[in-house]
Amino acid sequence: YTGVMKGEHHPQGWTEEDLLALEPSLNAAQDALEQRRKTGGLDFSFLLEDMRGQAGKIRDFADSLRDRIDNFVVLGIGGSALGPQAVQLALNPYYFNELPVEERRRPRLYVLDNIDPSRFAHLLDMLDLHKTVFNVITKSGSTSETMAQFLIVRERLRQACGADYANHIVVTTDHEKGNLLPIARREGYVRFVIPAGVGGRFSELTPVGLLPAAVCGIDIGTLLAGALAMDQKIRESRGITVNPAQLMAGISHAAWREGKNVSVFMPYADSLKMMADWYAQLWAESLGKRLNREGQEVRLGQTPVKALGVTDQHSQVQLYAEGPDDKMFTFVSVAHLGPEVPIPTDESLPESVRFLGGHTLGELLAAEERATEYALTLAGRPHRRIILPEVNAYCLGQLLLLLEWETAYMGELLNINAFDQPGVEEGKRGTYALMGRPGFEEKRRAIEGMGER
Ligand code: PA5
Repeated sequence: YTGVMKGEHHPQGWTEEDLLALEPSLNAAQDALEQRRKTGGLDFSFLLEDMRGQAGKIRDFADSLRDRIDNFVVLGIGGSALGPQAVQLALNPYYFNELPVEERRRPRLYVLDNIDPSRFAHLLDMLDLHKTVFNVITKSGSTSETMAQFLIVRERLRQACGADYANHIVVTTDHEKGNLLPIARREGYVRFVIPAGVGGRFSELTPVGLLPAAVCGIDIGTLLAGALAMDQKIRESRGITVNPAQLMAGISHAAWREGKNVSVFMPYADSLKMMADWYAQLWAESLGKRLNREGQEVRLGQTPVKALGVTDQHSQVQLYAEGPDDKMFTFVSVAHLGPEVPIPTDESLPESVRFLGGHTLGELLAAEERATEYALTLAGRPHRRIILPEVNAYCLGQLLLLLEWETAYMGELLNINAFDQPGVEEGKRGTYALMGRPGFEEKRRAIEGMGER
């Protein structure tokens, strides 16, 4: 976190004393969070052990699909889709789906997290439905997008597979609520449960994310072990210098108080590109709130921006260095990115190109990251860096929990409920109204009454 500290080019940065001064409020947040955890308000952490207990069953089911199918398609959106994509991209080869089956040894994974008809229809036309299982993931069982996808797929499967169609659908949903559950029971689909107290964006380490990961050969035991280790570290250490979530949230909160209304999350690894998408939802939906816990209007939040190093150096960094000073930057770098790719030397080339020869792409990437941090330092922009030794299941489990805990701490410091999403629910109700769901007639009239210009 050198990049947030006071320095020659960053006179408005903080001192160690400034950071230590945050400790009382962070310790108070820790006590409040521990209390909430005991009373069922923090199940993303509380249920981790339980999830570890379920890993065997999930793995067994995933293994049973291995030779039966070529494709595993997730139907879901938001918290029911971003985690599975982030983990798959991080832990399997970037072009996993394109690998020949002997190398892949697992079904391809597709995540249909939108209802754009052309993409949806194209994928369904492309797949051999006899060799495909669809995993319908919806906690509420009432999200129009997912339920519409489900109805289309169910119909197509019936046409293609006849009486066997139910063996091509697996649902991941609430244990006792929602519209999908009675259908799943009646039609006999295999079912996995999203625990009641875990909200969508905190649900990656439940069957929501664990099943697709296991189907694609990811070691979910190690993913959970990393998550548990981070969870334990955060819960059992106290103080900003030893508790990583306190440090992260302390910095984020102090930056936000100083007017940094934007949080840029920028991994320097293609495999972590979707982690930025996952983080953006976690941060936006958890912290963007109109009301505080006492019901007073506060309108808080910090806008997350997803970026990718080095790609976005060539699209966003101009703004970051010279535009408004309203951003906090989090870089994620990876010490060992995988096999080195050497850049060939060629003495016949001009010096201005030749200097690259003899280095590797990994060295170039690391240099680009340092150079960007340097440019932001010169511009006095606060930045910090999370370093992963490598992108593996253990580290990814740690990173997921670190960011979830940071978010929970931020909710506490902002005195808002980080675990609901009333703004999203309103949009969902508007969709019901416009699509003619009984009981929403009045809302429909209200929306149509707004007119259009
Ligand atoms: O984080 C959340 O709660 C949301 O993003 C939900 O995951 C998203 O709206 C989908 O909801 P559901 O899983 O109920 O279909």
